[in-house]
Formats: sequence, structure tokens, C-alpha cells
Amino acid sequence: MKKTQKNIAKTAKDLIVKPIYYHFPVVDSTNTTAKKCYDENKLKEGSIIYCSQQKKGKGRGNNAWFSSDNESLCFSIILEPLFLEASNYYQLHKLTSISLIESLESFIPEKKLQIKWPNDIYFEHKKLGGILISNTIKGSTISLSIIGVGININQEKFPKELINPVSLKEICGRKYPTENILKKIGIQFFSNYSKLIKDLNSFDSCYQKRLYKLNKKSRFIIKKKECTAIIRGVNEDGKILLEDAAKINAYAMDEVKMLIV
Ligand code: BTN
Repeated sequence: MKKTQKNIAKTAKDLIVKPIYYHFPVVDSTNTTAKKCYDENKLKEGSIIYCSQQKKGKGRGNNAWFSSDNESLCFSIILEPLFLEASNYYQLHKLTSISLIESLESFIPEKKLQIKWPNDIYFEHKKLGGILISNTIKGSTISLSIIGVGININQEKFPKELINPVSLKEICGRKYPTENILKKIGIQFFSNYSKLIKDLNSFDSCYQKRLYKLNKKSRFIIKKKECTAIIRGVNEDGKILLEDAAKINAYAMDEVKMLIV
């Protein structure tokens, strides 16, 4: 079923949000800094907060996010997507992951990036980056979204406890200035954001095509039990569709964990 937009009173001018970049040398978390600056009316929609050193980076669930000073890209984007019903929140995940893939692939000759549901950017079987989105709901719509992104850019070493990290340097064999990559992502993200405002389904099919392990047998832990199932897609609520014994079930992010080969 196609999603419809309820709350579009946007003019053509409103459809274009320009990124404005704010550098902080050291922060605990760019997501926390972005939220605080927004709450204090210091930053508005379109702001991209990035840092050289992130001391307490947050990952999904209760995980911490590892980053290396000056070598990783850690940033948060402030959006006011009032046109989005809260139930459509997953469109922001699609927008972000497709924007990252499109911009990062301009540096990767093999163009092989994929999205490991729900929020990871993968190169082959390794994690290049992750996304952490926090939304504020007002009435039935999303009044504020803080979109946090961490990407491994120039690292050559990672802590042992990370299962399968990879950096752009390891993929491409050369280092990149992190700010150049951020600018590329910012332009792509806001160009795609304009598309999303016009059509909420803009990224549905490319998101589906880029899903890691789509239509392949994979191993999962569901309700504490290990099992095998086939990923058939992601539904409107952002739940993963897993086929097992010819039956397709939808699972939320906190109900299932995919095991990596
Ligand atoms: C994940 O894969 O678990 C999500 C990682 C998200 C990390 C980014 S780094 C910038 C922003 N600030 C944070 O504290 N987290 C996100």
C-alpha cells in the first residue's frame, strides 16, 4: 500500500533544505549535542553537527559506538519532518541509508554497498557504518528527528571486540579527508530529503534492492532461539519479513538479531 502525506503545506521553497555544518572538536555524542543545541534554539533544521573526537558515542540498543579520533566520521543531522506521520518513521531510515550508499559509492569502484537491516551499511560481509535515529513526536507527526551516523573512514585498526568492522581506507586502499565525505553526504541527503517530501515512497524499491541477504537463507536469533529463515523484505512499519517453512512473519528490531557468517 502506498503511503500518503497528510500534512503537506510546504511551498517549493520549503522543499529545499540546505545543510549547514557545525564542527565541534570534542563531544560526548553528536546526537546529544545536536538535541541540546536544538532545544536551546541554537540550531535548526538542516544543521549537521560533526566532531573530531566522540567520547561516548551511542549505538543501537545499549551498545556504545566506537570511533577513532580524526579518522572516523561521526555526525548528526537535525530535521523537522512535520510532514511525516509517526507511523511512517521508517522512511527516515530508508532516506538515510540510501543517501549514505549513494554518496559513499562515489568513492568505491565496486559499488557494492548494502543495507543490513535495520541500520547498518555493509561492504560484503563487513560493517562500514551505522545509523541511530531519535524522533520526537508531536500529536501524530514527527516534529524533530536527530539522525546520527557513524562511518569508518581512515581506520586501519579496530578493537578486537568488534565482530566485522571495515573502513573506507581498507576498501579503497587510500585515505580520505573526512570533511570531503561529509559534504558529499550532506548534499546527497538533502537532495533526497526533497524527494521524500514530494513522495514518501521515493526510496522503497531501492531500499529493498539493497537489502543485505535479501532472498537468501540466513541465521537469526528469534526469542532467544537460533533459527534459519529467508529475508523477504521490510514492511511499512520497518519490521523485517522472514520466511520460515513457507510462512512469512514480521519482526521488530528488538525481536530479532541476524547472525553474521
Ligand atoms: C549502530 O550501528 O549501532 C549505530 C551507530 C551510530 C553512531 C553514530 S556516531 C554519530 C552519532 N552520535 C552518536 O552517539 N551515535 C551516532
